[in-house]
Amino acid sequence: MSEDQNVQNTAPKGAIGRFLAMPADTLPKTLFVAVTLCLVASMIVSAVAVALRPAQEVNKLKDKQVNILQVAGVYEKGVDVAEAFAAFEPHVLELATGRFTDQFDAKTFDDRASADNPDTSVALTDDPAAIGRKSKFVTVYLLRDDAGAIDKVILPIHGYGLWSTLYGFIALEENGNDIYGLQFYSHAETPGLGAEVDNPRWKSLWRDKKLADENGMLQITVAKSVPAAGAEYHVDALAGATLTSRGVDNLVKFWMGEAGFAPFLTNLKAGEI
Ligand SMILES: Cc1cc2nc3c(=O)[nH]c(=O)nc-3n(C[C@H](O)[C@H](O)[C@H](O)COP(=O)(O)O)c2cc1C
Repeated sequence: MSEDQNVQNTAPKGAIGRFLAMPADTLPKTLFVAVTLCLVASMIVSAVAVALRPAQEVNKLKDKQVNILQVAGVYEKGVDVAEAFAAFEPHVLELATGRFTDQFDAKTFDDRASADNPDTSVALTDDPAAIGRKSKFVTVYLLRDDAGAIDKVILPIHGYGLWSTLYGFIALEENGNDIYGLQFYSHAETPGLGAEVDNPRWKSLWRDKKLADENGMLQITVAKSVPAAGAEYHVDALAGATLTSRGVDNLVKFWMGEAGFAPFLTNLKAGEI
């Protein structure tokens, strides 16, 4: 057998054979390794994301429940959250009438999905909270005392700050006018600036403030200076975060006003809830 014939016999066959026979540092091989690595890595990340989704949903729900317990002042570290949360009575409220509805299951009603659904929401033309659409129905929570009377009502609120929509709750006393607490459970404001809405010191400023005056005029204000109505309606704006503070002022006024919970609060004050 000649030497030429020998070389022909050992030469790689087909495209794959020729590819495998290439030196490792050639461009096609480098690209092949890079693309394969990217594909495998993205498949692993996707699989992990899908596998973790149920756990994330459970954690999100638990976080929301913890926030409701905190804003109502009944959260203690180490407490069984689900057990403590069972004391709260969820209801789906029709905002326009201020009455509860049993059209939906309050335990599973999704306020955010409802706000995106044209059948259960309205596009806002007057939109100081910058939320675009408002759900006609929202989930509210009642906390009763041992005698079964309403002790606190916990109402969901949301609106735009500087960089993000802030989602939270306001807890009111049974008179529907005195604030027990306010806190946000989701936002993306800047740490140290707008994110100071989470600072316990700032949150504590809301305790015992009043929404409306004796004439029923909504007076609650987040501002740098005390409004003419008086200090009982004033929460100090965050230092260095005037824009987030303005967003909170707008969203609180919106949700506590006629487009928000005012009809419900009127019914509550009248003892009709
Ligand atoms: C990187 C960066 C992030 C900021 N984040 C916020 C914020 O989350 N909330 C806010 O109100 N202002 C934020 N500001 C500041 C605003 O631009 C603005 O200066 C401030 O709201 C004015 O508040 P003051 O009047 O209390 O100083 C940020 C500024 C910078 C440069």
